[in-house]
Amino acid sequence: MPAKPSFLSKLRIPVVAAPMFLVSGPELVIASCKSGVLGTFPALNPRTDKLLDEWLVKIKSEISNAPYGVNLIVHKTNNRLETNMEQIVKHKVPVVITSLGAVKDVVDEIHRYGGVVFHDVTNIVHARKAISAGVDGLIAVTAGAGGHAGLMSPFALVPQLRNEFDGTILLGGAISTGGGVRAAKALGADLAYLGTQFIATKESMASQAYKEMCVNPKLGPPPSFLPTVYTDKISGVNANFLIESLERNGIDLSATSKGTEDFSKLHADGKTASGKAWKDVWSAGHGVTNMKKIESVAELVDRLEREYKLA
Ligand SMILES: Cc1cc2nc3c(=O)[nH]c(=O)nc-3n(C[C@H](O)[C@H](O)[C@H](O)COP(=O)(O)O)c2cc1C
Repeated sequence: MPAKPSFLSKLRIPVVAAPMFLVSGPELVIASCKSGVLGTFPALNPRTDKLLDEWLVKIKSEISNAPYGVNLIVHKTNNRLETNMEQIVKHKVPVVITSLGAVKDVVDEIHRYGGVVFHDVTNIVHARKAISAGVDGLIAVTAGAGGHAGLMSPFALVPQLRNEFDGTILLGGAISTGGGVRAAKALGADLAYLGTQFIATKESMASQAYKEMCVNPKLGPPPSFLPTVYTDKISGVNANFLIESLERNGIDLSATSKGTEDFSKLHADGKTASGKAWKDVWSAGHGVTNMKKIESVAELVDRLEREYKLA
């Protein structure tokens, strides 16, 4: 049974500021860690390997031993994987969040320096592969999450994972309040994994227009009236995107074929292979329906803590 990481008890509330492509930078990570939650960012956000080194040095110098994490896309098209892995080992990054591939060699290498590995899953099949690769934690990415969301209800997936896994379970998918964080714990998760709520923080790298769209989302069409749409046509993998940002870019999903996500091209011209995903067509989860204002990370975490204590 994988031991639960000792930093869990040091967090002010059991919350991770989840890694978000083009949104999470050093300021967001530092503010999250200083507020007492686990700050993370994708290794691909710094546009070069040299910049990744600089980000890691800056983060470590400002958070005085608080835990932080880096997200690594373990996919054959990610041509920075090998170098980024060497950098993670060099800096002894405390938490590594792996997406797409759960590879035993990667997990072993991180364990050798004392790091912890959490792996994104949307179903039990991928969870079993990650468990056999020896990960310390499973991140249940459930329906309504921002980014590459799953389809399962958290009420089904978390107990299903808990039934087969004693390690750390993180739950992501539209968690918007401290009550939601409490509910994640009640379901059997150890940590709540929040992305969308952090997009509209002052410290995030999202543009002002993106933040404003999140705090004032336009309702979508019936039958769901959701401001977001779940589609594989933008990046090639099913993800939730803000309908209003599709409209602003003149994208009609009914006239668009499936996109292709190629991680080697993510930063070519600051855009993905499919041209617009992430940079111009903005992702957010169902939790945008509960966002009210652009605020600092400290204000967001204070509110989550108040609600968590009340719940
Ligand atoms: C704009 C955006 C970009 C994201 N980029 C990544 C990423 O690069 N890597 C990753 O593992 N997850 C990514 N995610 C998913 C988040 O890490 C997390 O699973 C999700 O935001 C949790 O659901 P919530 O947004 O409903 O809180 C992204 C999510 C959003 C909203």
